[in-house]
Amino acid sequence: MRINQAGTPPSKSISLVWNLLFSRWWTGHCRGDTEYRAFSMQLPLRRQIRPTLSHPAALPCSQTVHLPRKSSRVAAQAAAVTEQAARDVAATQHSNGHQSTANGTGNGNGNGYGGGHQTSAKHGREGPIILNGQILHNISSERLDVIHSMDDVLENNILPILKDTNKIWQPQDFLPDSSSDTFLDEVAELRKRAECLPDSYLVVLVGDMITEEALPTYMAMLNTLDGVRDETGAAPTPWGRWTRQWTSEENRHGDLMNKYCYLTGRVNMRAIEVTIQNLITSGMDPKTENNPYLGFIYTSFQERATKISHGNTASHATQYGDKVLGKICAAIAGDEARHEKAYIKIVDELFKRDPNGAVIAFNDMMKKQIVMPAHLMNDGQHGQGRNLFKDFSAVAQATRTYTGQDYVNIMKFLIKHWDIETRTGLSSEAQEAQEQVCNLLTRFQKLTDRQARMAGKRKEEDINFSWIFNRPLSVRPM
Ligand SMILES: [Fe+2]
Ligand SMILES: [Fe+2]
Repeated sequence: MRINQAGTPPSKSISLVWNLLFSRWWTGHCRGDTEYRAFSMQLPLRRQIRPTLSHPAALPCSQTVHLPRKSSRVAAQAAAVTEQAARDVAATQHSNGHQSTANGTGNGNGNGYGGGHQTSAKHGREGPIILNGQILHNISSERLDVIHSMDDVLENNILPILKDTNKIWQPQDFLPDSSSDTFLDEVAELRKRAECLPDSYLVVLVGDMITEEALPTYMAMLNTLDGVRDETGAAPTPWGRWTRQWTSEENRHGDLMNKYCYLTGRVNMRAIEVTIQNLITSGMDPKTENNPYLGFIYTSFQERATKISHGNTASHATQYGDKVLGKICAAIAGDEARHEKAYIKIVDELFKRDPNGAVIAFNDMMKKQIVMPAHLMNDGQHGQGRNLFKDFSAVAQATRTYTGQDYVNIMKFLIKHWDIETRTGLSSEAQEAQEQVCNLLTRFQKLTDRQARMAGKRKEEDINFSWIFNRPLSVRPM
């Protein structure tokens, strides 16, 4: 959903209208925010380069820069994947006046987000790895220990939230039985029901379905996270089992939505399939930097967003007259609610065991904004100069399926749930993060209010979506 990150604008299920609403403001904010000091990283190199990287376009996409810690000159050379990237890094090093140290402890006090160590050394490299403006593998060894200490929690409190395969619903429970003599009659009934669904609803339903269908990307994303990744593909660790079982539950969502959409006859399945293939090919970039703290804050947010979106498509389908589709979307929303609960519990543990690190990580993710998983969607034919995700998001906003206010509400919910505002006993760096994220919420709310006031003044535009055979849809641009 972060359109200013990779050139285009995630949920897995959702339209992240939010980024679209805030990208212009955010770009200016990041460029001018001198207070944004790498969320108080302890790593000296991080202190040096982060200000340059605060804007996602600081390094061109697909550039990887390895920064050796022992020499800024060598660092600059290594960073010179392009002349511009080298200039960015060298300029930042100069302006900060810090030299990196061999042990990576720098001048921090050990309470910051990155702690006093760099795991990059464990990966056989000498410094942080910068890719697409992110520092990879940035979790400290201390914080990795926190993650490793949570096996029991996973085993006893988190894994049980997932359901037994033999007791959970399957797509077939909601679909006509193709082995039955009444199959064709059941399909005819389904198609009759689906006639009541307006094009705007179909666009949102399809966008959500496409997002769910890019599940391989989301499993891959979880397996980028240090300390929790499934190292073999069938690792018996609680984290590995969680990721596979979560994925297997999620897999039912796209499967069911895809089959239902196909049977309605109302949508262009080939255009949809092309969009799914393109989206999986493009991937996503949630900016979680291999860090499970960031990763699980991201998923906590994202699952809640998904729950809201599917919950709204459920009630809208029922209102239009398709009660079966209403039950389908509600069942999916129910899964998302369980997943949200699990991810939030994981982060609850981080707040218990390492409140400083958790607050700083939360602030970091909120500053970067939560990108929606489908922000790189592309059908290969959407109107010239238009952005498919942006237009899909505009329809989601217009139909009140997922809105900028929903984004703010999720942020507000998490701030309250994790007691961010009134939490005491934090390090100075965490206090700074605490204050920043609370201020950020206020700013986002104001901006959302202003967007809402301005929305009515914009003229509607006709937008053609290949997913509905290019039937024009009148949408107020965002
Ligand atoms: Fe899902
Ligand atoms: Fe989900």
